[in-house]
Amino acid sequence: MPSSRLMRSILVPAVLALGTPTFTAAQTAPVPEPPPRATSAAPALDFATFTTKVQPLFLAKREGLMTCMTCHDGKVGTRLQLDPLPEGATTWSEEAARKNFKAVSSLVVPGSPTTSRLLLHPLDRDAGGDAFHGGGKHWRSQTDPEWQILAAWVRGGRPMPTTAAIPAGMAVRIIQTNAAGDGAHLIDPTTNLVTSVLKGVEIPHGVTSAPDGTRLYLTNEVRHTLDVVDAKTLAVTTRIPLSGQPNNVSITKDGRKVYVGIRSAPGALDVIDTVALKNVKTVPTKGGIHNVYVTPDSKWAVAGSIPERTISIVDVATDTLTRTIPMSAGIRPMAFTTNPDGSTKTIIVQLSDFHGFATVDFATGKETARIEHPDIPGEHPHRDGLQGAPAHGLAVSPDGTRLWSTSKVFGYAYVHSLPDLKEVGRVFVGQHPEWLTFTPDGKYVYVAAAGDNAVFVVDAVAMKEVARVPVGQVPKRNATAILQVAR
Ligand code: HEC
Repeated sequence: MPSSRLMRSILVPAVLALGTPTFTAAQTAPVPEPPPRATSAAPALDFATFTTKVQPLFLAKREGLMTCMTCHDGKVGTRLQLDPLPEGATTWSEEAARKNFKAVSSLVVPGSPTTSRLLLHPLDRDAGGDAFHGGGKHWRSQTDPEWQILAAWVRGGRPMPTTAAIPAGMAVRIIQTNAAGDGAHLIDPTTNLVTSVLKGVEIPHGVTSAPDGTRLYLTNEVRHTLDVVDAKTLAVTTRIPLSGQPNNVSITKDGRKVYVGIRSAPGALDVIDTVALKNVKTVPTKGGIHNVYVTPDSKWAVAGSIPERTISIVDVATDTLTRTIPMSAGIRPMAFTTNPDGSTKTIIVQLSDFHGFATVDFATGKETARIEHPDIPGEHPHRDGLQGAPAHGLAVSPDGTRLWSTSKVFGYAYVHSLPDLKEVGRVFVGQHPEWLTFTPDGKYVYVAAAGDNAVFVVDAVAMKEVARVPVGQVPKRNATAILQVAR
């Protein structure tokens, strides 16, 4: 029953002091992390996150305890030496923060929260903390929002762009295609209102946008074309004929090439030159292609086949198929994690008839983990109309620390931490949820609820629904675009 589900999604512990994020986690016994990585591969600790998120924790008062600062301002001789605060000051100067950063950094292992002394000393022994801390145990579990802030900092998330980074004359739009309709809805994430409706693309499959914000590219499943749409007028300006029935689409970082997955046998990737607006090459793949993704470093086009159960890797420099990775079942949506140098580390993949996801090491092509989404107590599973894909929506948060995966069976998104793949929460996101897409700052995630003809807007940190936006018929694939908007 939707209302009871909604209730449950709201039953989240109250947000604590300092506006800290809240995590609903089903975590129990902590699982040891792999040994810390070599320093060259370890993520850098971010100073800005330290000053805005970590430092306030040292001044926060917890029930029955003293603040960290009460003892660690130099009174006790430990390595945790925080710079004394001048009389009346409520936070540190930049210079003092640098000193604090140095001292605190010496007590953590970058990339590995659960081997970091700073996180283990004040954590309850039952929750994986160490034996004793002279200042008491400040966190009862690893799901404590404060502990999670420290963990996120130690894990080394990528800094996220803020809305201030959006150039003048441009705006963020969530593009929601309607799989049973003839276009897409554009949502302004600052108001959660539909600003315009794009029409004239019959059964749009996927959508992507030009990096300069001038155009949208949508695959048209009725005409077998790639439809080029002007971002300001939302009119279809060109239809580029494809070699067969298209599915999804992806663009290179420089915006010069669009790859279109061709679903019809024998399967291919069509390469579209976006300057000439021509279909310049058809790269044969192993099997019809459902989804295609250009990797975050723009070096590879990674394409999945449902009938052949393979992932085809195409070199973007030469547009040739370099290798295929066989899997046990059809390839559905994919997502990627990256190494510190931006190269691709892992392919995360949803598979036909599997309620969860698997991870594949990009270098070796070997499957490294498989996570099945657990049943949700009290929720009735839906198995009608799954089209072979119980889980068909996957996205990595912009900071690289969270993986969101939707379940059509239960109508939930399951959230896992990266790289350790521990479930950190779940949230109800409507009937038959499909694709999801983040705002550029990572604060909100937009989930297509195909069965509700709506998009669920979820606060990505609190993992709580904040809005529902009505869109067209059967919304499935979506994307976040920064577009030149009409003024
Ligand atoms: C009541 C005083 C007191 C408070 C409050 C306190 N600590 Fe401590 N802390 C100590 C003492 C004493 C030691 C040295 C003995 C030990 O290792 O437990 C220590 C040691 C530590 C160490 C190990 C430092 C090293 O040199 O290895 C860490 C890390 C630490 N504290 C973190 C914290 C954090 C984080 C807080 C706040 C959440 C906090 N402490 C609050 C008294 C305190």
